[in-house]
Amino acid sequence: MIPDLFTNHGIGQRESMAEQAVILRGFALDQTDDLLRQIFALQAQAPFRHMLTPGGFRMSVALTNCGALGWTTDRRGYRYSPTDPNSGAPWPDMPECFRQLACQAAEAAGFAGFEADACLLNRYQPGTRLSLHQDRNERGFDAPVVSVSLGMSATFLFGGLRRSDPARRFLLHHGDVAVWGGQDRLRYHGVAPLKGPPHPTLGEQRLNFTFRRAD
Ligand code: SIN
Ligand code: FE2
Repeated sequence: MIPDLFTNHGIGQRESMAEQAVILRGFALDQTDDLLRQIFALQAQAPFRHMLTPGGFRMSVALTNCGALGWTTDRRGYRYSPTDPNSGAPWPDMPECFRQLACQAAEAAGFAGFEADACLLNRYQPGTRLSLHQDRNERGFDAPVVSVSLGMSATFLFGGLRRSDPARRFLLHHGDVAVWGGQDRLRYHGVAPLKGPPHPTLGEQRLNFTFRRAD
């Protein structure tokens, strides 16, 4: 992959979002070729699709999953499922390089021993947004959320434990990994409408994958 020759978004730095929430700048940068190869293989088995919210709205984010459990939504609600509702088949296995990256990033953020059983892949295109929400469909909240960003930069909104709490804004760039857990695990977060220049290799999209312990 051609490195981004024009910008260095603080690679190797840690940017604190809250007490137990951090952005590890460029943490995944040396693995992006492998990650992208795996994503292309995964989406051949389980394509990105726009799911319906329980309220009947089509999500602007397109998603797919890998791992033992995948996050889904439809008119019946949000939940984790072992199978892809489109095909009825199990979600693709979580690639080893995904598992390792999630575990290493969690450890670097102070959460040793993280074993993700779910990886949600989100695809954003210009204008796509993700409104403020809490990640609370998991069985427990002891494990952190590990979120890897590839492609176009995006504004990540990181709020408090109530929806009405003010949200801080952080730019997430290609190769950055954000981790939140512990007392910050249930903070509201979201993504502002995607805009800005296309990414040199991925073009007009941002791919984000979030690792969780769902069960
Ligand atoms: C999510 O909250 O599941 C995704 C966050 C992101 O795309 O950065
Ligand atoms: Fe989330």
